[in-house]
Amino acid sequence: MRYLITSALPYINGIKHLGNLVGSMLPADVYARFLRQEGEDVLYICATDEHGTPAEIAALEAGLDVAEFCKRQYERQADIYQRFGLSFNYFGRTSAPENHELTQHFYYQLDQHGFIEAREISQVYSLDDERFLPDRYITGTCPNCGYEKARGDQCENCTKVLSPTDLIDPRSTISGSKNLEVRTSQHLYLLLDKLSEEVRSWVEQQEQWPTLTKAIAMKWLNEGLQSRGITRDLSWGVPVPREGFEDKVFYVWFDAPIGYVSATKAWGEAEAGRDWQSWWKNADDVRYTQFMAKDNLPFHTIMWPATILGSREPWKMADYIKGFNWLNYYGGKFSTSSKRGVFLDQALEIAPADDWRYMLMASAPESSDSAFTWEQFQNKVNKELADNLGNFVNRILKFTASRFGNELPAGGEPGEAEAQLQATCQQLIETLRTHLHNLEFRKATEALNALWTAGNQYIDVRAPWALFKQDKAEAAVVIRTCVNLIRLYAIAAAPFIPFTAETLFDALQLTDAERSATMTAAADLSALAAGRAFEVPPPLFQKLDDDRVAELKAQFGGE
Ligand code: 2FM
Ligand code: ZN
Repeated sequence: MRYLITSALPYINGIKHLGNLVGSMLPADVYARFLRQEGEDVLYICATDEHGTPAEIAALEAGLDVAEFCKRQYERQADIYQRFGLSFNYFGRTSAPENHELTQHFYYQLDQHGFIEAREISQVYSLDDERFLPDRYITGTCPNCGYEKARGDQCENCTKVLSPTDLIDPRSTISGSKNLEVRTSQHLYLLLDKLSEEVRSWVEQQEQWPTLTKAIAMKWLNEGLQSRGITRDLSWGVPVPREGFEDKVFYVWFDAPIGYVSATKAWGEAEAGRDWQSWWKNADDVRYTQFMAKDNLPFHTIMWPATILGSREPWKMADYIKGFNWLNYYGGKFSTSSKRGVFLDQALEIAPADDWRYMLMASAPESSDSAFTWEQFQNKVNKELADNLGNFVNRILKFTASRFGNELPAGGEPGEAEAQLQATCQQLIETLRTHLHNLEFRKATEALNALWTAGNQYIDVRAPWALFKQDKAEAAVVIRTCVNLIRLYAIAAAPFIPFTAETLFDALQLTDAERSATMTAAADLSALAAGRAFEVPPPLFQKLDDDRVAELKAQFGGE
Protein backbone atom coordinates (compact mmCIF):
# COMPACT_ATOMS: atom_id res chain seq x y z
CA MET A 1 0.00 0.00 0.00
CA ARG A 2 1.06 3.58 -0.72
CA TYR A 3 -0.55 6.48 1.11
CA LEU A 4 -1.83 9.61 -0.61
CA ILE A 5 -2.82 12.38 1.79
CA THR A 6 -4.37 15.75 0.99
CA SER A 7 -5.65 18.54 3.21
CA ALA A 8 -8.25 21.07 2.05
CA LEU A 9 -6.53 23.74 0.01
CA PRO A 10 -6.29 26.94 2.08
CA TYR A 11 -7.86 29.95 0.44
CA ILE A 12 -5.37 32.56 -0.73
CA ASN A 13 -7.04 35.74 0.55
CA GLY A 14 -5.24 35.95 3.88
CA ILE A 15 -3.31 34.31 6.67
CA LYS A 16 -5.27 31.41 8.15
CA HIS A 17 -6.26 31.10 11.81
CA LEU A 18 -5.87 28.26 14.32
CA GLY A 19 -9.32 26.95 13.41
CA ASN A 20 -8.24 26.44 9.81
CA LEU A 21 -5.06 24.65 10.84
CA VAL A 22 -6.63 22.20 13.29
CA GLY A 23 -9.26 20.96 10.85
CA SER A 24 -7.11 20.14 7.85
CA MET A 25 -3.36 20.68 7.45
CA LEU A 26 -2.19 19.84 10.96
CA PRO A 27 -3.92 16.45 11.39
CA ALA A 28 -2.91 15.55 7.82
CA ASP A 29 0.69 16.38 8.72
CA VAL A 30 0.64 14.33 11.92
CA TYR A 31 -0.74 11.39 9.97
CA ALA A 32 1.83 11.79 7.17
CA ARG A 33 4.72 12.02 9.63
CA PHE A 34 3.46 8.97 11.50
CA LEU A 35 3.15 6.84 8.36
CA ARG A 36 6.57 7.89 7.08
CA GLN A 37 8.02 6.89 10.43
CA GLU A 38 6.33 3.50 10.05
CA GLY A 39 8.29 3.11 6.84
CA GLU A 40 5.33 3.67 4.52
CA ASP A 41 5.48 5.33 1.11
CA VAL A 42 3.62 8.62 1.70
CA LEU A 43 2.73 11.53 -0.56
CA TYR A 44 1.26 14.54 1.22
CA ILE A 45 -0.02 17.19 -1.18
CA CYS A 46 -1.50 20.61 -0.54
CA ALA A 47 -1.77 23.93 -2.41
CA THR A 48 -3.28 27.38 -2.18
CA ASP A 49 -6.78 27.79 -3.57
CA GLU A 50 -6.34 30.99 -5.53
CA HIS A 51 -9.32 31.77 -7.73
CA GLY A 52 -12.69 33.39 -7.15
CA THR A 53 -14.15 36.73 -6.16
CA PRO A 54 -12.68 36.89 -2.62
CA ALA A 55 -9.16 36.77 -4.11
CA GLU A 56 -10.01 39.52 -6.59
CA ILE A 57 -11.52 41.71 -3.90
CA ALA A 58 -8.65 41.16 -1.47
CA ALA A 59 -6.21 42.12 -4.24
CA LEU A 60 -8.25 45.22 -4.98
CA GLU A 61 -8.18 46.21 -1.31
CA ALA A 62 -4.43 45.64 -1.20
CA GLY A 63 -4.02 47.78 -4.31
CA LEU A 64 -2.31 44.97 -6.18
CA ASP A 65 -2.79 43.17 -9.41
CA VAL A 66 -4.45 39.86 -8.50
CA ALA A 67 -1.63 37.67 -9.87
CA GLU A 68 0.92 39.64 -7.86
CA PHE A 69 -1.30 39.56 -4.78
CA CYS A 70 -1.65 35.78 -5.00
CA LYS A 71 2.07 35.29 -5.52
CA ARG A 72 2.87 37.27 -2.37
CA GLN A 73 0.19 35.55 -0.33
CA TYR A 74 1.33 32.17 -1.54
CA GLU A 75 4.86 32.90 -0.35
CA ARG A 76 3.60 34.16 3.03
CA GLN A 77 1.45 31.10 3.55
CA ALA A 78 4.15 28.68 2.43
CA ASP A 79 6.58 30.29 4.86
CA ILE A 80 4.17 30.06 7.79
CA TYR A 81 3.35 26.42 7.10
CA GLN A 82 7.03 25.60 6.98
CA ARG A 83 7.49 27.29 10.35
CA PHE A 84 4.62 25.17 11.68
CA GLY A 85 6.50 22.10 10.51
CA LEU A 86 3.94 21.03 7.90
CA SER A 87 5.77 18.41 5.88
CA PHE A 88 4.05 18.62 2.50
CA ASN A 89 5.79 16.66 -0.21
CA TYR A 90 4.55 19.47 -2.40
CA PHE A 91 2.74 22.72 -1.76
CA GLY A 92 1.35 23.95 -5.05
CA ARG A 93 -1.02 26.60 -6.36
CA THR A 94 -4.32 26.27 -8.19
CA SER A 95 -3.28 29.14 -10.44
CA ALA A 96 -0.42 26.98 -11.79
CA PRO A 97 -0.46 25.97 -15.48
CA GLU A 98 -0.92 22.31 -14.51
CA ASN A 99 -4.22 23.19 -12.88
CA HIS A 100 -5.43 25.26 -15.82
CA GLU A 101 -4.70 22.41 -18.16
CA LEU A 102 -6.25 19.70 -16.01
CA THR A 103 -9.37 21.76 -15.21
CA GLN A 104 -9.99 22.26 -18.92
CA HIS A 105 -9.37 18.55 -19.43
CA PHE A 106 -12.05 17.63 -16.85
CA TYR A 107 -14.42 20.06 -18.51
CA TYR A 108 -13.86 18.46 -21.94
CA GLN A 109 -14.44 15.00 -20.52
CA LEU A 110 -17.65 16.02 -18.74
CA ASP A 111 -18.91 17.86 -21.79
CA GLN A 112 -18.12 14.95 -24.08
CA HIS A 113 -20.14 12.62 -21.88
CA GLY A 114 -23.16 14.88 -21.74
CA PHE A 115 -22.81 16.27 -18.22
CA ILE A 116 -22.46 19.96 -19.16
CA GLU A 117 -25.21 22.27 -20.36
CA ALA A 118 -25.16 25.97 -21.33
CA ARG A 119 -27.99 28.08 -19.90
CA GLU A 120 -28.91 31.72 -20.03
CA ILE A 121 -29.27 33.40 -16.64
CA SER A 122 -29.91 36.89 -15.30
CA GLN A 123 -27.38 38.59 -13.07
CA VAL A 124 -26.76 41.98 -11.58
CA TYR A 125 -24.20 44.02 -13.52
CA SER A 126 -22.48 47.07 -11.98
CA LEU A 127 -21.83 49.70 -14.63
CA ASP A 128 -19.33 51.59 -12.51
CA ASP A 129 -17.38 48.50 -11.41
CA GLU A 130 -17.67 47.16 -14.97
CA ARG A 131 -18.43 43.66 -13.71
CA PHE A 132 -21.16 41.23 -12.80
CA LEU A 133 -21.69 41.10 -9.07
CA PRO A 134 -22.04 37.79 -7.25
CA ASP A 135 -25.07 37.83 -4.95
CA ARG A 136 -23.09 38.40 -1.82
CA TYR A 137 -21.41 41.48 -3.27
CA ILE A 138 -24.69 43.33 -3.45
CA THR A 139 -25.86 45.16 -0.33
CA GLY A 140 -29.27 46.64 0.36
CA THR A 141 -32.15 46.94 2.80
CA CYS A 142 -33.82 43.69 3.86
CA PRO A 143 -37.49 43.59 2.74
CA ASN A 144 -38.24 41.39 5.73
CA CYS A 145 -36.73 43.22 8.71
CA GLY A 146 -35.48 46.53 7.35
CA TYR A 147 -31.80 45.82 8.14
CA GLU A 148 -29.81 48.18 5.94
CA LYS A 149 -26.77 46.02 5.29
CA ALA A 150 -28.42 42.82 4.06
CA ARG A 151 -26.43 40.82 1.50
CA GLY A 152 -27.87 39.74 -1.83
CA ASP A 153 -27.88 36.08 -0.78
CA GLN A 154 -29.05 36.38 2.82
CA CYS A 155 -29.94 38.89 5.53
CA GLU A 156 -27.47 38.49 8.39
CA ASN A 157 -29.92 40.12 10.77
CA CYS A 158 -33.05 38.01 10.31
CA THR A 159 -31.37 35.12 8.36
CA LYS A 160 -33.94 35.31 5.55
CA VAL A 161 -32.59 33.85 2.32
CA LEU A 162 -32.75 36.51 -0.37
CA SER A 163 -31.98 37.06 -3.99
CA PRO A 164 -30.43 40.38 -5.05
CA THR A 165 -33.63 41.57 -6.71
CA ASP A 166 -35.45 41.35 -3.34
CA LEU A 167 -33.21 44.04 -1.84
CA ILE A 168 -34.54 47.57 -1.42
CA ASP A 169 -32.08 50.21 -2.59
CA PRO A 170 -29.39 47.74 -3.80
CA ARG A 171 -25.78 48.86 -4.20
CA SER A 172 -22.41 47.34 -5.06
CA THR A 173 -20.50 46.17 -2.00
CA ILE A 174 -17.27 46.80 -3.86
CA SER A 175 -17.75 50.47 -4.77
CA GLY A 176 -21.07 51.44 -3.18
CA SER A 177 -22.36 52.32 -6.64
CA LYS A 178 -26.11 52.13 -7.21
CA ASN A 179 -25.66 52.14 -10.94
CA LEU A 180 -26.77 48.52 -11.34
CA GLU A 181 -28.78 46.67 -13.93
CA VAL A 182 -29.89 43.12 -14.61
CA ARG A 183 -28.23 41.53 -17.62
CA THR A 184 -28.50 38.09 -19.08
CA SER A 185 -25.53 35.92 -19.93
CA GLN A 186 -24.65 32.33 -20.76
CA HIS A 187 -23.26 29.99 -18.12
CA LEU A 188 -22.25 26.36 -18.01
CA TYR A 189 -23.94 23.94 -15.63
CA LEU A 190 -22.68 20.64 -14.32
CA LEU A 191 -25.61 18.24 -14.42
CA LEU A 192 -25.22 16.75 -10.97
CA ASP A 193 -28.75 15.38 -11.14
CA LYS A 194 -27.67 13.04 -13.94
CA LEU A 195 -24.77 11.77 -11.79
CA SER A 196 -26.74 11.48 -8.60
CA GLU A 197 -27.26 7.70 -8.61
CA GLU A 198 -23.60 7.02 -9.35
CA VAL A 199 -22.51 9.30 -6.52
CA ARG A 200 -25.02 7.69 -4.18
CA SER A 201 -23.81 4.20 -4.94
CA TRP A 202 -20.19 5.28 -4.38
CA VAL A 203 -21.10 6.93 -1.06
CA GLU A 204 -23.07 3.87 0.03
CA GLN A 205 -20.04 1.67 -0.56
CA GLN A 206 -17.97 3.71 1.92
CA GLU A 207 -18.78 1.68 4.99
CA GLN A 208 -15.81 2.77 7.03
CA TRP A 209 -16.34 6.54 6.63
CA PRO A 210 -16.82 8.52 9.88
CA THR A 211 -20.40 9.34 10.87
CA LEU A 212 -20.08 13.07 10.22
CA THR A 213 -18.80 12.55 6.67
CA LYS A 214 -21.43 10.00 5.78
CA ALA A 215 -24.27 11.98 7.36
CA ILE A 216 -23.46 15.13 5.41
CA ALA A 217 -23.16 13.24 2.13
CA MET A 218 -26.46 11.40 2.66
CA LYS A 219 -28.25 14.62 3.59
CA TRP A 220 -27.27 16.16 0.25
CA LEU A 221 -28.14 13.06 -1.72
CA ASN A 222 -31.52 12.71 -0.05
CA GLU A 223 -32.40 16.32 -0.71
CA GLY A 224 -31.71 15.61 -4.40
CA LEU A 225 -28.74 16.90 -6.36
CA GLN A 226 -29.33 19.90 -8.57
CA SER A 227 -27.32 21.07 -11.53
CA ARG A 228 -24.78 23.67 -10.55
CA GLY A 229 -23.27 26.64 -12.38
CA ILE A 230 -19.55 26.09 -12.93
CA THR A 231 -18.62 29.30 -14.73
CA ARG A 232 -18.30 32.90 -13.53
CA ASP A 233 -17.93 36.32 -15.11
CA LEU A 234 -14.46 37.04 -13.80
CA SER A 235 -11.09 37.46 -15.42
CA TRP A 236 -8.98 35.71 -12.74
CA GLY A 237 -9.34 31.96 -12.97
CA VAL A 238 -9.17 29.10 -15.43
CA PRO A 239 -10.47 30.26 -18.85
CA VAL A 240 -13.48 28.40 -20.24
CA PRO A 241 -12.41 26.86 -23.58
CA ARG A 242 -15.71 27.27 -25.40
CA GLU A 243 -16.99 29.66 -28.02
CA GLY A 244 -18.92 32.53 -26.50
CA PHE A 245 -17.26 32.05 -23.09
CA GLU A 246 -14.11 34.04 -23.77
CA ASP A 247 -14.79 36.46 -20.89
CA LYS A 248 -15.53 33.77 -18.33
CA VAL A 249 -13.62 31.48 -16.04
CA PHE A 250 -14.51 28.31 -14.18
CA TYR A 251 -16.07 28.63 -10.73
CA VAL A 252 -13.43 28.34 -8.02
CA TRP A 253 -15.02 25.23 -6.51
CA PHE A 254 -14.79 23.51 -9.90
CA ASP A 255 -11.04 23.95 -10.24
CA ALA A 256 -10.03 23.78 -6.54
CA PRO A 257 -10.25 20.01 -5.94
CA ILE A 258 -8.63 19.40 -9.32
CA GLY A 259 -5.75 21.20 -7.57
CA TYR A 260 -5.05 18.02 -5.60
CA VAL A 261 -4.26 16.22 -8.84
CA SER A 262 -2.52 19.10 -10.57
CA ALA A 263 -0.29 19.83 -7.57
CA THR A 264 0.73 16.16 -7.63
CA LYS A 265 1.54 16.61 -11.31
CA ALA A 266 3.66 19.65 -10.47
CA TRP A 267 5.40 17.56 -7.79
CA GLY A 268 6.08 14.92 -10.43
CA GLU A 269 7.53 17.43 -12.84
CA ALA A 270 9.79 19.00 -10.21
CA GLU A 271 12.19 16.05 -10.17
CA ALA A 272 13.10 13.35 -12.67
CA GLY A 273 11.84 9.85 -11.94
CA ARG A 274 8.67 10.82 -10.11
CA ASP A 275 5.64 9.07 -11.52
CA TRP A 276 2.75 11.34 -10.49
CA GLN A 277 0.16 9.50 -12.54
CA SER A 278 0.67 6.27 -10.62
CA TRP A 279 -0.77 8.05 -7.55
CA TRP A 280 -3.97 9.07 -9.31
CA LYS A 281 -4.76 6.82 -12.23
CA ASN A 282 -5.81 3.20 -11.74
CA ALA A 283 -4.15 3.56 -8.34
CA ASP A 284 -5.58 0.52 -6.63
CA ASP A 285 -2.52 0.13 -4.44
CA VAL A 286 -2.98 3.67 -3.06
CA ARG A 287 -4.95 4.45 0.08
CA TYR A 288 -6.16 8.03 -0.28
CA THR A 289 -7.14 10.04 2.82
CA GLN A 290 -8.55 13.57 2.73
CA PHE A 291 -8.64 16.01 5.67
CA MET A 292 -11.01 18.96 5.95
CA ALA A 293 -13.41 20.96 8.10
CA LYS A 294 -17.09 20.04 7.87
CA ASP A 295 -18.11 22.93 5.60
CA ASN A 296 -15.97 21.36 2.89
CA LEU A 297 -17.58 17.92 3.16
CA PRO A 298 -20.36 18.44 0.58
CA PHE A 299 -17.81 19.46 -2.04
CA HIS A 300 -15.63 16.43 -1.35
CA THR A 301 -18.33 13.80 -0.88
CA ILE A 302 -20.60 14.97 -3.72
CA MET A 303 -19.33 17.60 -6.15
CA TRP A 304 -15.77 16.42 -6.64
CA PRO A 305 -16.68 12.71 -6.83
CA ALA A 306 -19.37 13.64 -9.38
CA THR A 307 -16.75 15.47 -11.44
CA ILE A 308 -14.51 12.41 -11.39
CA LEU A 309 -17.31 9.93 -12.11
CA GLY A 310 -18.60 12.09 -14.96
CA SER A 311 -15.13 12.30 -16.53
CA ARG A 312 -15.39 8.56 -17.21
CA GLU A 313 -11.70 8.26 -16.43
CA PRO A 314 -10.14 6.07 -13.71
CA TRP A 315 -9.05 8.84 -11.31
CA LYS A 316 -8.43 7.90 -7.71
CA MET A 317 -11.31 8.69 -5.35
CA ALA A 318 -10.96 9.14 -1.61
CA ASP A 319 -10.88 5.99 0.50
CA TYR A 320 -11.37 7.92 3.71
CA ILE A 321 -12.56 11.47 4.38
CA LYS A 322 -11.79 12.80 7.83
CA GLY A 323 -14.05 15.76 8.58
CA PHE A 324 -13.61 18.05 11.57
CA ASN A 325 -16.13 20.09 13.48
CA TRP A 326 -15.44 23.72 14.37
CA LEU A 327 -12.82 24.92 16.74
CA ASN A 328 -14.40 28.03 18.24
CA TYR A 329 -12.66 30.91 19.91
CA TYR A 330 -14.28 30.96 23.35
CA GLY A 331 -18.04 30.93 22.69
CA GLY A 332 -17.97 32.27 19.12
CA LYS A 333 -16.48 31.46 15.75
CA PHE A 334 -12.98 32.23 14.59
CA SER A 335 -13.55 34.70 11.83
CA THR A 336 -11.22 35.87 9.11
CA SER A 337 -13.46 38.75 8.06
CA SER A 338 -13.99 40.13 11.57
CA LYS A 339 -10.43 39.22 12.64
CA ARG A 340 -11.65 37.28 15.65
CA GLY A 341 -9.31 34.71 17.17
CA VAL A 342 -5.65 33.90 16.68
CA PHE A 343 -4.02 33.97 13.25
CA LEU A 344 -1.08 31.76 12.40
CA ASP A 345 1.52 34.51 12.13
CA GLN A 346 0.48 35.87 15.53
CA ALA A 347 0.47 32.40 17.05
CA LEU A 348 4.14 31.88 16.21
CA GLU A 349 5.04 35.16 17.90
CA ILE A 350 3.39 33.94 21.10
CA ALA A 351 4.71 30.39 21.38
CA PRO A 352 6.76 27.86 19.38
CA ALA A 353 5.03 25.74 16.74
CA ASP A 354 5.19 22.55 18.82
CA ASP A 355 3.17 24.09 21.67
CA TRP A 356 0.42 24.89 19.19
CA ARG A 357 0.63 21.61 17.36
CA TYR A 358 0.29 19.60 20.54
CA MET A 359 -2.41 21.77 22.06
CA LEU A 360 -4.49 21.82 18.88
CA MET A 361 -4.35 18.07 18.38
CA ALA A 362 -5.16 17.50 22.05
CA SER A 363 -8.32 19.58 21.66
CA ALA A 364 -9.18 18.73 18.06
CA PRO A 365 -12.92 19.12 17.36
CA GLU A 366 -13.41 15.50 16.36
CA SER A 367 -16.73 14.41 17.79
CA SER A 368 -18.24 17.85 18.31
CA ASP A 369 -17.30 21.52 18.11
CA SER A 370 -14.71 22.51 20.71
CA ALA A 371 -13.49 25.83 22.00
CA PHE A 372 -10.04 27.33 22.12
CA THR A 373 -9.33 29.20 25.35
CA TRP A 374 -6.07 30.66 26.59
CA GLU A 375 -6.56 28.80 29.89
CA GLN A 376 -6.66 25.52 28.04
CA PHE A 377 -3.59 26.43 26.03
CA GLN A 378 -1.81 27.27 29.29
CA ASN A 379 -2.93 24.01 30.83
CA LYS A 380 -1.72 21.85 27.94
CA VAL A 381 1.63 23.60 27.67
CA ASN A 382 2.35 23.82 31.39
CA LYS A 383 1.00 20.52 32.67
CA GLU A 384 1.51 18.13 29.78
CA LEU A 385 4.40 19.48 27.75
CA ALA A 386 6.47 21.30 30.38
CA ASP A 387 5.74 19.27 33.54
CA ASN A 388 5.12 15.82 32.20
CA LEU A 389 7.61 15.67 29.30
CA GLY A 390 10.01 18.61 29.63
CA ASN A 391 10.72 18.19 33.32
CA PHE A 392 11.39 14.49 32.99
CA VAL A 393 13.95 15.05 30.26
CA ASN A 394 15.77 17.85 32.04
CA ARG A 395 15.81 16.26 35.47
CA ILE A 396 17.23 13.01 34.14
CA LEU A 397 19.83 14.44 31.79
CA LYS A 398 21.01 17.11 34.24
CA PHE A 399 21.28 14.63 37.05
CA THR A 400 23.18 12.15 34.90
CA ALA A 401 25.61 14.79 33.64
CA SER A 402 26.33 16.05 37.15
CA ARG A 403 26.81 12.61 38.75
CA PHE A 404 28.20 10.44 35.95
CA GLY A 405 29.37 12.91 33.27
CA ASN A 406 28.02 13.17 29.73
CA GLU A 407 27.98 9.44 28.99
CA LEU A 408 25.47 6.76 29.84
CA PRO A 409 26.78 5.04 32.99
CA ALA A 410 27.66 1.34 33.06
CA GLY A 411 26.77 -1.24 35.68
CA GLY A 412 23.79 -3.17 37.04
CA GLU A 413 21.12 -5.21 35.29
CA PRO A 414 17.51 -4.26 34.48
CA GLY A 415 15.09 -5.93 36.89
CA GLU A 416 11.39 -6.30 37.60
CA ALA A 417 10.60 -2.55 37.60
CA GLU A 418 12.27 -2.11 34.21
CA ALA A 419 10.46 -5.10 32.73
CA GLN A 420 7.17 -3.71 33.95
CA LEU A 421 7.89 -0.26 32.54
CA GLN A 422 8.86 -1.78 29.21
CA ALA A 423 5.58 -3.73 29.07
CA THR A 424 3.58 -0.59 29.90
CA CYS A 425 5.38 1.36 27.20
CA GLN A 426 4.84 -1.33 24.59
CA GLN A 427 1.17 -1.36 25.39
CA LEU A 428 0.84 2.42 25.24
CA ILE A 429 2.74 2.55 21.97
CA GLU A 430 0.34 0.04 20.45
CA THR A 431 -2.57 2.15 21.68
CA LEU A 432 -1.00 5.28 20.22
CA ARG A 433 -0.38 3.59 16.88
CA THR A 434 -3.94 2.30 16.72
CA HIS A 435 -5.36 5.77 17.40
CA LEU A 436 -3.14 7.27 14.73
CA HIS A 437 -4.12 4.63 12.19
CA ASN A 438 -7.76 5.39 13.05
CA LEU A 439 -7.14 9.15 12.83
CA GLU A 440 -8.25 9.73 16.41
CA PHE A 441 -5.98 12.56 17.31
CA ARG A 442 -7.30 13.50 20.72
CA LYS A 443 -7.04 9.94 21.93
CA ALA A 444 -3.55 9.73 20.43
CA THR A 445 -2.36 12.69 22.53
CA GLU A 446 -3.89 11.06 25.61
CA ALA A 447 -1.86 7.91 24.94
CA LEU A 448 1.25 10.05 24.49
CA ASN A 449 0.61 11.82 27.75
CA ALA A 450 0.08 8.49 29.50
CA LEU A 451 3.46 7.39 28.17
CA TRP A 452 5.12 10.45 29.74
CA THR A 453 3.28 9.80 33.00
CA ALA A 454 4.59 6.22 33.06
CA GLY A 455 8.17 7.52 33.06
CA ASN A 456 7.47 9.96 35.88
CA GLN A 457 5.89 7.23 37.97
CA TYR A 458 8.90 5.02 37.33
CA ILE A 459 11.36 7.63 38.62
CA ASP A 460 9.13 8.44 41.58
CA VAL A 461 9.38 4.80 42.62
CA ARG A 462 13.01 4.19 41.63
CA ALA A 463 14.26 7.63 42.81
CA PRO A 464 17.69 7.55 41.13
CA TRP A 465 18.83 10.59 43.16
CA ALA A 466 18.52 8.64 46.41
CA LEU A 467 19.66 5.40 44.85
CA PHE A 468 22.89 7.04 43.68
CA LYS A 469 24.02 7.40 47.31
CA GLN A 470 23.34 3.74 48.14
CA ASP A 471 23.92 1.74 44.98
CA LYS A 472 25.61 3.40 42.01
CA ALA A 473 25.17 0.42 39.70
CA GLU A 474 21.45 0.29 40.39
CA ALA A 475 21.20 4.04 39.78
CA ALA A 476 23.02 3.50 36.48
CA VAL A 477 20.34 1.00 35.37
CA VAL A 478 17.60 3.52 36.11
CA ILE A 479 19.47 6.25 34.23
CA ARG A 480 20.03 4.11 31.14
CA THR A 481 16.39 3.08 31.16
CA CYS A 482 15.31 6.72 31.44
CA VAL A 483 17.55 7.88 28.62
CA ASN A 484 16.12 5.14 26.41
CA LEU A 485 12.72 6.35 27.49
CA ILE A 486 13.62 9.86 26.34
CA ARG A 487 14.45 8.47 22.91
CA LEU A 488 11.12 6.65 22.86
CA TYR A 489 9.36 9.87 23.88
CA ALA A 490 11.04 11.76 21.07
CA ILE A 491 10.08 9.17 18.48
CA ALA A 492 6.51 8.68 19.72
CA ALA A 493 5.93 12.43 19.92
CA ALA A 494 7.69 13.30 16.65
CA PRO A 495 4.50 13.37 14.52
CA PHE A 496 3.02 15.91 16.96
CA ILE A 497 6.03 17.93 18.09
CA PRO A 498 8.69 17.42 15.42
CA PHE A 499 10.92 20.34 16.44
CA THR A 500 11.20 19.12 20.03
CA ALA A 501 11.84 15.60 18.78
CA GLU A 502 14.73 16.94 16.73
CA THR A 503 16.18 18.74 19.78
CA LEU A 504 16.03 15.48 21.71
CA PHE A 505 17.59 13.49 18.88
CA ASP A 506 20.47 15.96 18.85
CA ALA A 507 20.83 15.89 22.63
CA LEU A 508 21.06 12.10 22.56
CA GLN A 509 23.38 12.29 19.54
CA LEU A 510 21.37 9.67 17.69
CA THR A 511 22.47 8.30 14.34
CA ASP A 512 20.16 8.72 11.34
CA ALA A 513 18.98 5.13 11.72
CA GLU A 514 18.25 5.66 15.40
CA ARG A 515 16.25 8.79 14.63
CA SER A 516 14.12 7.13 12.03
CA ALA A 517 13.26 4.05 14.07
CA THR A 518 9.61 3.10 14.42
CA MET A 519 7.84 3.62 17.74
CA THR A 520 7.63 -0.13 18.12
CA ALA A 521 11.39 -0.55 17.75
CA ALA A 522 12.09 2.38 20.08
CA ALA A 523 10.05 0.72 22.82
CA ASP A 524 13.12 -1.41 23.52
CA LEU A 525 14.39 0.39 26.63
CA SER A 526 17.87 -1.11 26.57
CA ALA A 527 18.79 -0.15 23.02
CA LEU A 528 21.08 2.76 23.95
CA ALA A 529 23.91 1.17 25.94
CA ALA A 530 26.47 2.35 28.48
CA GLY A 531 29.16 4.67 27.09
CA ARG A 532 26.83 6.62 24.78
CA ALA A 533 27.50 10.35 24.84
CA PHE A 534 24.73 12.90 25.28
CA GLU A 535 24.21 16.59 25.95
CA VAL A 536 21.80 18.37 28.24
CA PRO A 537 19.37 20.41 26.10
CA PRO A 538 18.02 23.76 27.28
CA PRO A 539 14.53 23.57 28.87
CA LEU A 540 12.20 22.17 26.20
CA PHE A 541 9.07 24.20 26.94
CA GLN A 542 8.36 27.57 28.47
CA LYS A 543 5.42 27.82 30.82
CA LEU A 544 2.79 30.53 30.50
CA ASP A 545 2.03 32.21 33.81
CA ASP A 546 -1.33 33.68 34.77
CA ASP A 547 -0.22 37.24 34.02
CA ARG A 548 0.72 36.26 30.50
CA VAL A 549 -2.64 34.56 30.01
CA ALA A 550 -4.44 37.68 31.23
CA GLU A 551 -2.35 39.74 28.81
CA LEU A 552 -3.22 37.48 25.87
CA LYS A 553 -6.89 37.55 26.77
CA ALA A 554 -6.79 41.32 26.86
CA GLN A 555 -4.97 41.45 23.52
CA PHE A 556 -7.15 38.95 21.65
CA GLY A 557 -10.41 39.25 23.52
CA GLY A 558 -11.90 36.40 25.51
CA GLU A 559 -15.07 35.14 27.16
O1 2FM B 1 -12.68 26.19 2.48
C1 2FM B 1 -11.67 26.53 1.89
O2 2FM B 1 -10.81 27.24 2.40
C2 2FM B 1 -11.44 26.06 0.48
N1 2FM B 1 -10.40 26.85 -0.11
C3 2FM B 1 -11.10 24.60 0.47
C4 2FM B 1 -10.85 24.02 -0.87
S1 2FM B 1 -10.56 22.38 -0.75
C5 2FM B 1 -10.24 21.81 -2.28
F1 2FM B 1 -11.22 21.34 -2.85
F2 2FM B 1 -9.53 22.55 -2.95
ZN1 ZN C 1 -33.64 40.87 7.45
